[in-house]
Amino acid sequence: MPENASSLRTPPWSVRPGARTWRCAPAPAEVRDFHTALPGYSPTPLTELPPLAAESGVGRVFVKDESCRLGLPAFKALGASWAVHRALAERAASGEGSGPVTLVTATDGNHGRAVARTARLLGQRAHVFVPRGVHPRAVAAVAGEQAKVTEVSGSYDEAVRRAAEAVAAPDAILVQDTAWPGYERIPGWIVEGYSTLCAEIDEQLVAEGVAGGPDLVSIPVGVGSLAQAVVTHYRSRLSGRTPALLSVEPEAAACVLESLILGEPVSVTTGETVMAGLNCGTPSSIAWPYLRGGLDAAIAVPDAGSARAADHLSALGVSSGPCGAAALAGLRAALTGAGAEERRTALGLGPSSVVVLLSTEGPAANPHSTLDR
Ligand SMILES: Cc1ncc(COP(=O)(O)O)c(C=O)c1O
Repeated sequence: MPENASSLRTPPWSVRPGARTWRCAPAPAEVRDFHTALPGYSPTPLTELPPLAAESGVGRVFVKDESCRLGLPAFKALGASWAVHRALAERAASGEGSGPVTLVTATDGNHGRAVARTARLLGQRAHVFVPRGVHPRAVAAVAGEQAKVTEVSGSYDEAVRRAAEAVAAPDAILVQDTAWPGYERIPGWIVEGYSTLCAEIDEQLVAEGVAGGPDLVSIPVGVGSLAQAVVTHYRSRLSGRTPALLSVEPEAAACVLESLILGEPVSVTTGETVMAGLNCGTPSSIAWPYLRGGLDAAIAVPDAGSARAADHLSALGVSSGPCGAAALAGLRAALTGAGAEERRTALGLGPSSVVVLLSTEGPAANPHSTLDR
């Protein structure tokens, strides 16, 4: 990577010694079976990119490429499909009714599209609230799933509030990928749904000759639900290596980094970022204990870092949207600039380390990447 002003400065960063010894219970095993039985399911690719290993001074770097997951260009359908399945099954079992429901959610693009797609496939309705800053083509993609779309002039947090208010009707179910006190069950199922991604990585690494699992996983973070799933996976394993887990957020919306620095969950005022799916101001309440306990480090990256990472990934044959490329941008920010050696040591990285970058979306998920640079 060419040295420039942004690669020489100290990135916003927080380190959590002891995170690798933190433990929790695993996700339920039946999630994987559920996804495997879905039409169109297949594991997404885990692609090795040797030039990134050379650049980073580690042994091997793999990219988990979520640019086509269950027919959508981001990983989010894993959570939406399992959570809607659980919610509808519970509703039927409780005798609340088997009639049509409206699945309501707020989104900065990918989750809303996944909920809308799930609703359409199940013959249900969807109502999706979209904050400002989501690309018009991403909004159109939600509407294209036959969802009702309400555009909100405020932030993602404001859109979440509007969606929560809209579920007063008895046939409406809020399917939100973030939790707050009093609303935790469905977000918990969404997190469980993401566990399939980690289970696939385990199998794919074994097939690549990496038996013990990775040494570092770099995770793009919005409200922290995906990171909760990754922490749950690696901090509940009974065998294998215990990897370092790195959270990566946009500088314009680093609510998890800020919360870790302050030692308690806080909301931040979000700005504008091309990493639309990460533009969230408040950590999920159920994610917070996992993030505080099990993340080794958190870092924030500027839009330019994500854009450079997306260009480089694309040149190496992996198509990433800005949120997906944040995983590489975060690794690079950690390993370059002032204080890089301490950060490398904190992440436990050496010349034989195995790194997995979660590229959580393709360019089609978030057209900011192709249009607005
Ligand atoms: C592409 C992409 N990556 C990562 C995330 C972050 O997930 P979470 O909000 O669970 O931290 C999102 C969330 O919308 C996303 O759309």
